[in-house]
Amino acid sequence: MKVAVVGATGLVGTKMLQVLDERNFPVTELIPVASAKSIGKEITFKGKQYKIVSAEDAIKQKPDVAIFSAGGSTSLEQAPLFADAGITVIDNSSAWRMDPTKKLVVPEVNADVLTAEDKIIANPNCSTIQMVVALKPLHDRYKIKRVVVSTYQSVTGTGVKAVDQLFNERNGVDGPKVYPYTIDLNVIPQIDVFTENGYTKEEMKMILETKKIMGDDSIAVTATTVRIPVMGGHSESVNIEFAHEYDLAEVREVLANAPGVVVVDDIANLKYPMPLDAHDKDEVFVGRLRRDETQPNTLNCWIVSDNLRKGAATNAVQIAEYLASKNLIGQSVVV
Ligand SMILES: NC(=O)c1ccc[n+]([C@@H]2O[C@H](COP(=O)([O-])OP(=O)(O)OC[C@H]3O[C@@H](n4cnc5c(N)ncnc54)[C@H](OP(=O)(O)O)[C@@H]3O)[C@@H](O)[C@H]2O)c1
Repeated sequence: MKVAVVGATGLVGTKMLQVLDERNFPVTELIPVASAKSIGKEITFKGKQYKIVSAEDAIKQKPDVAIFSAGGSTSLEQAPLFADAGITVIDNSSAWRMDPTKKLVVPEVNADVLTAEDKIIANPNCSTIQMVVALKPLHDRYKIKRVVVSTYQSVTGTGVKAVDQLFNERNGVDGPKVYPYTIDLNVIPQIDVFTENGYTKEEMKMILETKKIMGDDSIAVTATTVRIPVMGGHSESVNIEFAHEYDLAEVREVLANAPGVVVVDDIANLKYPMPLDAHDKDEVFVGRLRRDETQPNTLNCWIVSDNLRKGAATNAVQIAEYLASKNLIGQSVVV
C-alpha cells in the first residue's frame, strides 16, 4: 500500500512512521509530506531514505491512504484534494471531527461505522480517545449517565515547539513560547482557546466527541483540561455515574477483558498508572478504581495513555489496519 504521511516531521508524524513500522503495516511506498520549509529534506523509514514532497506532488503519486497530522488549517485545505483524488484520508486534526458527514473513530469503540465511501475519516482528540476506550465496555455493561473528567495533559500534546519551551525553561534558555505562561514547575488550566460558555475548546472536544464516538447523546460529560510539565502521556481523573448498580470486582474484570485496556490497580503494592510507564506503549492504563462514596452507582478512576501513540498515531494506524482488513481502501476510487 502506498502511504502518504502529511506532517511527517512533526511529533505525531514521527511517531506515525515508528508505529507503521512496528505494526508492520504493509507500506510498499512511503510519501512523506511537510511544510514548504521541509521539502527536499530526507527522512528514514524501514532503513530507506525518502525525500519530503509537497502535498501536490504527493497526490500525483496516487497513494492509497494519506494520514494527516499537520494542523487543522492544512487538513481543511488539503484533505479534500486527496479525497477528491480517491485517496482515503485519516486526519488527526480537529478539522473534520464534528462534521456530521464524517466518521469519528476509535477502533475499539466504533470501527464498524466505517464504509468504503468514507474518504475523510477523523481521528478524535487525544484525551477523548483514551477516555472512551475505558468508558465503552463500562457503558455496554452499566450504561453511563454522567462523566466528570479532569485532565493532566503532557506538553507533547502541543507539538515540537511546546517540548522545546519546557526544556528551554528547565535549562534557563530564553526561547519562543507556545503557552501564555511558563510551563516548567507550573500547571496551566487552559488547553486550546476559550469558548463563549467559559469552557476551553479542548474541554468542549471531550464533551462533544465522547457523545459522537459512543453514539449516545444522552451521556452527560463535563470536563476541565489542564496542561502539566510532563512528557510521557496524558492522565485523567474520571468520575462515572452509571444508570445501574455495579460491582467493583466485576468492573475490574470488565476493564481487564476490554480491548486496548490494561488494569493497573494494586494499591497494596503502590501500583497505579503513570505517564512514565505509559510512555511509548499503545494501551490505555486504568487504575485507582474505587467507589464514589458520595453518590450511588458512581465510580472514580484514573486513566493514563501515551497521547502521541493511542491518542494519535496508533489510533490512526489502527483505523488504516481496519480499513485494509475489510477491503475498504480504494474501492470507490475517483480517477
Ligand atoms: N501531539 C498530540 O498529542 C496530538 C494528538 C492528536 C492530534 N494531534 C494533532 O496532530 C497535528 C500535528 O500535531 P504535532 O503535535 O505533531 O505538531 P508539530 O510537532 O508541530 O508538527 C506539525 C507538522 O505539520 C507540518 N506542517 C505544518 N504546516 C504544513 C503545511 N502547510 N503542509 C504540510 N505540512 C505542514 C509540519 O511540517 P514542518 O516540519 O515542515 O513545519 C510538521 O510536520 C495537529 O493537528 C494536532 O492537533 C496532536
